Amino acid sequence: MATQHISRYSTRKRVLVTGGAGFIGSHLCARLIEQGHEVLCVDNFFTGTRANIAPLLDHDSFELMRHDVTFPLYVEVDEIYNLACPASPVHYQFDPVQTTKTSVVGAVNMLGLAKRLRAPILQASTSEVYGDPSVHPQVESYWGNVNPIGPRSCYDEGKRCAETLFFDYNRQHGIPIKVIRIFNTYGPHMHPNDGRVVSNFIVQALRGQDITIYGDGQQTRSFCYVDDLVRGFMAMMATPNEVTGPINLGNPGEFTMLELAQIVIELTGSTSRLEHRPLPQDDPKQRRPDISKAKETLGWDVTIPLREGLVKTIDYFRGVVAREG
Ligand SMILES: NC(=O)c1ccc[n+]([C@@H]2O[C@H](COP(=O)([O-])OP(=O)(O)OC[C@H]3O[C@@H](n4cnc5c(N)ncnc54)[C@H](O)[C@@H]3O)[C@@H](O)[C@H]2O)c1
Repeated sequence: MATQHISRYSTRKRVLVTGGAGFIGSHLCARLIEQGHEVLCVDNFFTGTRANIAPLLDHDSFELMRHDVTFPLYVEVDEIYNLACPASPVHYQFDPVQTTKTSVVGAVNMLGLAKRLRAPILQASTSEVYGDPSVHPQVESYWGNVNPIGPRSCYDEGKRCAETLFFDYNRQHGIPIKVIRIFNTYGPHMHPNDGRVVSNFIVQALRGQDITIYGDGQQTRSFCYVDDLVRGFMAMMATPNEVTGPINLGNPGEFTMLELAQIVIELTGSTSRLEHRPLPQDDPKQRRPDISKAKETLGWDVTIPLREGLVKTIDYFRGVVAREG
C-alpha cells in the first residue's frame, strides 16, 4: 500500500490496460509509456499478439501479464483501462459464451479491482450498444435497437451489460467510471484476417484478390484513426470524477462501403475488382457517431482524415502481407 500512496503524489501513474496486446490496446500502452507512465498490460492473447507490443517489451516501464479477465486479478495500480474483449464478429462469434463472459465477468472482476483500489476505470464500450439504430446519427441518450438472441448478441448484449455494471458500481460504490462508446476504428495492428472492413479491403487489395462487398455496398460506416481514439481515451481518463460518460468517440465522416473500397483500390494501386455477397444477419445499415458530447466535455475532435489514416494502415499491412510471402 505504501507504494500506492507514493505514486499518487507524482504524475507518473501505474496504469493497467486489459486487452493491451490487441489492436487498440497496444497503441494505448505505447502512448501511456511515451507520456511517462508505467503500464501493466494484461492479455490472454486470444486475438492480441506479442508482435503488437514487441517494441515495448524491453521498456523499463512496461510489464506484460498473461491473464484471462474472467478470473479475478489482484494488482496495485492507479488507473484501469478495460479493453479486453474480442472485437470483430469472426473472433467474438468463435466462442460466444466466452465473449459474454469476457465482457460481463471481466467487467465484474475489473470493477472489483477498481473498488478495492479506489481507482478510476475506463470501459471500452462500443457503438454496437446502439444495435441497428433507428436514430441517426447516434447520440448517447439513444437506448439502442439490439437483438438479444442473435449471433451478434454475445458481443452487443455483453457490452450493454458491462455498461450496466459500470454505472451500478458508480452509483452503489462510488467508483469513478469512464464509459467510452467506440465507433469503427482502424489503423496498424488490426488483424489481417478478422473480417473487419478496413483490414479486409486493404489485405484483399494488397493480395490482388477481389474485394468483398456485403449487400449492395450502400451501407455506411464511419472510420476513426486509432491515434485519435487513444487521445480521446486519455482525455476521458483525465476528467473529474463526475464525468462518467457514456461518450461516443468516432469519426462522423460517413462513407459507403463502395466508397471505401474505391479509395483503398486507389491508394494501394491494386487491380482488385469488387465481389458482392449477401448481407450477414443483423448487420447495421448505417452507423455514424454524434460527437458533440466528446467535443464539449473533452475538447476532443478527430484530426486524421480517412485518406491519411489509410495510407499509414496500408503501409503497415504491406509489411504484414510481405512477411506472408
Ligand atoms: N476496433 C474497433 O473498431 C472497436 C469498436 C468498438 C469497440 N471496440 C472495443 O475496444 C476494445 C479493443 O478492441 P480491439 O479492436 O483492439 O480488438 P482486439 O481483438 O485487437 O483486442 C482485444 C484484446 O483483448 C484480449 N482479450 C480477449 N479476451 C480476453 C480475456 N478474456 N482476458 C484477457 N484478454 C482478453 C485479446 O487477446 C486482445 O488482445 C474491445 O473491448 C472492443 O470491444 C473496438
